[in-house]
Amino acid sequence: MSHIGLGKIILLGEHAVVYGYPALAAALDRGVRVDAIPTPAGGTLRLDIPSWNLKVTAEDDNSFAHGLAAIADALELGRPPLTLVGDAQIPPGAGLGASAAFAVAVARALLAQAKKPADAAAVRAAASASETVLHGTASGVDVALAQAGGVGVFRKSTGLRPIQIPTLRVLVGPSGSPRSTAAMVDRVAQATSGIVDDARLKELGALADTGTDALLRRDIPALGADMNRAHTLLGELGVSTPLLDALCNVARKLGAHGAKLTGAGGGGAVIALAPRDQEPEILAAWKSAGVNGFIASIGGR
Ligand code: PMV
Repeated sequence: MSHIGLGKIILLGEHAVVYGYPALAAALDRGVRVDAIPTPAGGTLRLDIPSWNLKVTAEDDNSFAHGLAAIADALELGRPPLTLVGDAQIPPGAGLGASAAFAVAVARALLAQAKKPADAAAVRAAASASETVLHGTASGVDVALAQAGGVGVFRKSTGLRPIQIPTLRVLVGPSGSPRSTAAMVDRVAQATSGIVDDARLKELGALADTGTDALLRRDIPALGADMNRAHTLLGELGVSTPLLDALCNVARKLGAHGAKLTGAGGGGAVIALAPRDQEPEILAAWKSAGVNGFIASIGGR
């Protein structure tokens, strides 16, 4: 049986969420699927995700191996002789929550294999341990969405508050530029001197609130305007790049209601909301900039 962790996008509120402000985020309709295949006794815990060119054991010395070991340790399962085979439909390191999706799917697969219940708190703790190893201090928004799916407002203090919305189509453009979430979180800490009351962080938090209201009343142009403003603020905090700016600008020029970087920035992905008949042109423009965008649907459950 396969076990799944979903990818995510942050519509509004990344970085500010680290300082306690709300973030509006949604699970993608794709993620990482993991199957556990028992290996002969004497074997160890292995992970193989062919589409990420990833093949590690829990004893190896690299980030995903450390993440795998952290998950098994948090679940107190030792090193079961298993090969976890992953099918990933999202790229790693693109700000789409791939590492949290991986961690949730692996935790669920390990618990099932050990014939233990897929207790939500245990999965969250194990996936969070892996996220800490991979990214340093994380707000937890990625793990919450990878686990729960759907759309919601996340706060570090209260976790994910789900909201119900009809399906919404979102253009997602993974820029292909690698980046480090921890480095971007550090950059924002420097730009704000770590002051929670920084005006830009406050405004990002306020945009998450007004954007949530706009989404709930299906006012996509208003949500798009909030996204555009959030992108500008994230740029001021130093986490945009010329490529991310260009991808957002071309989407807006071609009729998008709004476009912004999503996730930590410094590379990673952009998202855009656009009238349906403009979507093909935007994807084509991104393609000529070397970006293989796709259309994800969020909500609708
Ligand atoms: O790792 P990413 O690109 O999905 O970024 C996560 C969002 C941040 O707010 C930048 C960090 C966090 O832990 O919330």
